Amino acid sequence: MLNGKRILLIVAGGIAAVKVPDLIRRLRERGASVRCILTKGGAQFVTPLTLAALSGQKIYQDLFSLTDESEMGHIQLSRDADILLVAPATADIMAKMTAGIADDIATTALLATDKPVMICPSMNVMMWTHPATQANLETLKARSVEIVGPGAGDLACGEVGDGRLAEVKDIIAALNRFFQRQRGDGALARMRVLVTSGPTHEPIDPVRYISNRSSGKQGHAIAAALANLGAQVTLIAGPTAEPDPDGVAVVRVETAAQMLKASREALPCDIAVCAAAVADWHVADASKTKLKKSTTPPRINLAPNPDILATLAQPGPQRPLLVIGFAAETGDVIEKAKVKRAAKNCDWIIANDVSPGSGTFGGDDNTVHVITAQNVESWPTLKKREVAEKLAGLIATHAAKFL
Ligand code: C5P
Repeated sequence: MLNGKRILLIVAGGIAAVKVPDLIRRLRERGASVRCILTKGGAQFVTPLTLAALSGQKIYQDLFSLTDESEMGHIQLSRDADILLVAPATADIMAKMTAGIADDIATTALLATDKPVMICPSMNVMMWTHPATQANLETLKARSVEIVGPGAGDLACGEVGDGRLAEVKDIIAALNRFFQRQRGDGALARMRVLVTSGPTHEPIDPVRYISNRSSGKQGHAIAAALANLGAQVTLIAGPTAEPDPDGVAVVRVETAAQMLKASREALPCDIAVCAAAVADWHVADASKTKLKKSTTPPRINLAPNPDILATLAQPGPQRPLLVIGFAAETGDVIEKAKVKRAAKNCDWIIANDVSPGSGTFGGDDNTVHVITAQNVESWPTLKKREVAEKLAGLIATHAAKFL
């Protein structure tokens, strides 16, 4: 996918710039050509000589260089690429991109370009979570800038949290996905898919809620795997610690009612995968103020939640062509799931055992049975990522035949 692609790599001033030589090597191994712009800050961490040696091209550092401008003007530089990749993208360069500041060759190229832009943020966790950076991020996303990472972990500054430059392999995967989507040739290209994931929180009062132990790992992995096959994925995510998968439009919600509303708004779609562990009930008369501790515990009146899967699977003009549900069961898993599939009118149901000790809720592994109207297919225990990839493959095969 990267063979023959021209990448204008903008290296801004963060410690993660030390990972850029490896990124260039991996891009070139895949047949991409890499031309680098190195900011003043970037040059504090990686030398122009290193980048020139690895990219095999001259490095652009100065907006007003007479030689550079006579050979290739900065405007041409910004257009003579298939994508502009900013790695690492510092808080500073994100702020300048948002504001349209063009005070060096990197920011000028970013403002002057008519090409897609992908950024890989990397910075201290407080800088990343600062409302200013998060607001800039939202603006850039709204302008269709592709965002890769950041990851969580130990940061060079000694703090721990979000802010690590995405792994080189993840940046390459994001580029692959981008070009695949652009070419529209993934197995699920142009398919619109809705995925629900995670638990829901049903408030008792402003500080307490009813929920379950769903981690969102399986649903998020399914959204990522479908996006990898070129699908246009909207992920409706309940409260979860899982990061937003790359290349997926994420709508974060809290309650079942919000999840249903967001799911309806994501229609029409071709495929729906309901992996969320939606709470079965909400508190009918949730208090607007915090309930006081008293000698008599409060009575909590529960009312049933809407069934999102069953709603989406109802016959009608907006019914997706393929609707897939999950059935988390303890004991008699397959039989109970068959009944559920029919009751909810979904096409497939993915049944899994969530008995205590199975490790499914919150764990990384899953043992599932794929149940259709005609068939039951039992898979071995796999990583949730592997289950997601296998399921995405099955959906793609099915889509090729029927959609
Ligand atoms: O009825 P049960 O909760 O076991 O059904 C599980 C399936 O139904 C899952 O696919 C889940 O996402 C979906 N579901 C839903 N809305 C609900 C309850 C379950 O979409 N309120």
